[in-house]
Amino acid sequence: MTSTELAGAADVPEAVGAGGATTVETRAAATSEADTGEAPVVRLRGVRRTFDADLAPVRALRGVDLDVAAGELIAVTGPSGCGKSTLLNVIAGLEAADDGTVEVAGERVSGRDADWLSRFRRRHVGIVFQFFNLIDGMSALQNIVLPASIGGMRRRAAEARARDLLDLLGLADRADQIPSVLSGGQRQRLAIARALVNAPTVLLADEPTGALDSEGGLEILELFRRLHSDGQTIIMITHSVDVAAGAQRVVPMRDGRIAAPRTS
Ligand SMILES: Nc1ncnc2c1ncn2[C@@H]1O[C@H](COP(=O)(O)OP(=O)(O)OP(=O)(O)O)[C@@H](O)[C@H]1O
Ligand SMILES: [Mg+2]
Repeated sequence: MTSTELAGAADVPEAVGAGGATTVETRAAATSEADTGEAPVVRLRGVRRTFDADLAPVRALRGVDLDVAAGELIAVTGPSGCGKSTLLNVIAGLEAADDGTVEVAGERVSGRDADWLSRFRRRHVGIVFQFFNLIDGMSALQNIVLPASIGGMRRRAAEARARDLLDLLGLADRADQIPSVLSGGQRQRLAIARALVNAPTVLLADEPTGALDSEGGLEILELFRRLHSDGQTIIMITHSVDVAAGAQRVVPMRDGRIAAPRTS
């Protein structure tokens, strides 16, 4: 398993004591008022990341500056290989930047050790991948409970929280089913529920609609828009023009850099 897959499966946010609530609150919703007009929740300055390769080093990120405010819904777009996943992984602390600074929720992420980074991810980051990364030997409910338990949430609280999320994402009647019997769209909603279980500061999604048909993709977008309207900060990578058009802001990347951003 790669570190990225692990992050999706188990190395996910820790308890925040939200279990048992009748409504599902996000950390961002709880803090967005306080964050308004304050420091961005994600702040990158001069971020560079180069990978060793057989022929020549690959400069995946070549000096990226990015600010994401609390509650923003951002789509990162750009051609294959331009550095989108590397950017997301650097924000999540799954890849280290070689140079520059990465701050999330006011914490410096760059230059930290593995233990610090895993605590940071449990607390602040929810991650959703193109191919779901769910655990098939476990029910939908248990897939959501697992990261909450790893984070220290009590079992009953975690189960209550998981049921609230299943409900929120339209999967209440699927709690006991294993992921492989769910449709692609249902699996991705389950993966999103898992990513939200510990009320992350930021939800990061790497082509969350990439394995779905266009209708399924737009359903996930609709869901993100709902979460966004509840105050959740979301950064998603997408190749779909339609999905990107539903974001609040598009961040186009090219050759390891952010090309002129535009707002809509
Ligand atoms: N672990 C790695 N080792 C070596 N090279 C890597 C590694 N990860 C990424 N790269 C290279 O860095 C560049 C950027 O990769 P990245 O995965 O960020 O692109 P992307 O924009 O997400 O592409 P795609 O749309 O195809 O997913 C690519 O040239 C890729 O081959
Ligand atoms: Mg990618």
